Amino acid sequence: MRMVDIIAKKRDGKELSEEEIRWFVESYSSGEVPDYQASAFAMAIYFQDMTQKESAALTYAMAESGDQLDLSAIEGIKVDKHSTGGVGDKTTLIIGPIVAACGVPVAKMSGRGLGHTGGTIDKLESFRGFETEIPKEEFVNLVNEHKIAVAGQSGNLTPADKKLYALRDVTATVNSIPMIASSVMSKKIAAGADAIVLDVKAGSGAFMKEVEDAKRLAEAMVEIGQSLDRKTMAVISNMDQPLGRTVGNALEVKEAIETLQGDGPEDLHELSVKLSSYMLVAGGKADSLEQAEKMVLQVIKNGEALEKMKAFVENQHGDAAAVDNPDSLAAAEHRVEVKAKASGYVHGIEAEEIGVSAMLLGAGRATKDDVLDYSVGIELTKKIGDIVQKGDTIAIMHVNDQDSTESAEKISQAFTISEAAVEKPVLIYETVQ
Ligand code: URA
Repeated sequence: MRMVDIIAKKRDGKELSEEEIRWFVESYSSGEVPDYQASAFAMAIYFQDMTQKESAALTYAMAESGDQLDLSAIEGIKVDKHSTGGVGDKTTLIIGPIVAACGVPVAKMSGRGLGHTGGTIDKLESFRGFETEIPKEEFVNLVNEHKIAVAGQSGNLTPADKKLYALRDVTATVNSIPMIASSVMSKKIAAGADAIVLDVKAGSGAFMKEVEDAKRLAEAMVEIGQSLDRKTMAVISNMDQPLGRTVGNALEVKEAIETLQGDGPEDLHELSVKLSSYMLVAGGKADSLEQAEKMVLQVIKNGEALEKMKAFVENQHGDAAAVDNPDSLAAAEHRVEVKAKASGYVHGIEAEEIGVSAMLLGAGRATKDDVLDYSVGIELTKKIGDIVQKGDTIAIMHVNDQDSTESAEKISQAFTISEAAVEKPVLIYETVQ
């Protein structure tokens, strides 16, 4: 086969065969196909799209390009959950213990954050001593015994995706629905998921700014999963403002604990309950969403989900006492209030701007090697639809001795305030399954 023929075929809008896609993935991974040809190919896909069969072939070839986790020693249906990335999204910290408390195994690989979105591993490391590099055997034992373990992504998972994603990043070809879908799903398949629940975000803080695009991405991922025999469903949720009230690692952990105590913000509670319920259905623990929701609310109410979080943190050598005493988590020295510049109703809160502001304070990384300050972040005291008076506090920055002027300005600009009343936004647009 010749790469030039494959590029031309895609450029002309023809469907590639499974063999041609596999050959590309293998030859690009080995270095036989150079970056300039892979770039041209990515651009051809960007403009010509991919059929469902092509995306499934790309997914599978990328999943097979490196290590594949064999989790067959874990009893039960392993259900993974993936969020396409949002600001203040700490749902994994809540859903993991809930689902595990209901008896569905959670064997999760998670990543670190980069840019305006945070990573689950960073948040978990806010528990002093928490370890995410767990030997495979211990990981399997923990899930079999306690139904939950979360590990950092292992070194050689989907190397073909890593290489192609990095190339897409610098050739303006990230925003292609079939390539995003294949990239995400290849990682889930390689990580050993039997079933996958996707939280596809739509809005100012998400990859997909429009609900229609998020829906197309959700449909593409669900089709890929199902064609590879993984039960897959997707929830399309609102990312026009940060989820919950906090952005920043220890602050988000605290909010997750409150939510497991039944005392979290409404949006975070609602999304966590919905995603957990889908996971119970996918994991075969409930026959219907209604039955699943009852189970989820029950383990929040009777404290079993919170107990599960404690066991989970302790098993991974973290300071589990912090679950009972969240004030012992890292806390910043100062609180700096950001004030409303006008009176009216909060109309919008640019999630990406809030994420960047938190990153500038030290809660996230601008580059891979940045060191995090777990204690810093942003607490939103107003959300979309709330009434504000000029001079009211709209957010509180939790800071140490870093300069917070730029973040304060960004937070202020992220809020738009209108004179007309604003309704609370819809949180979950729809479900694709
Ligand atoms: N996230 C991924 O993992 N891959 C993409 O292509 C885009 C977002």
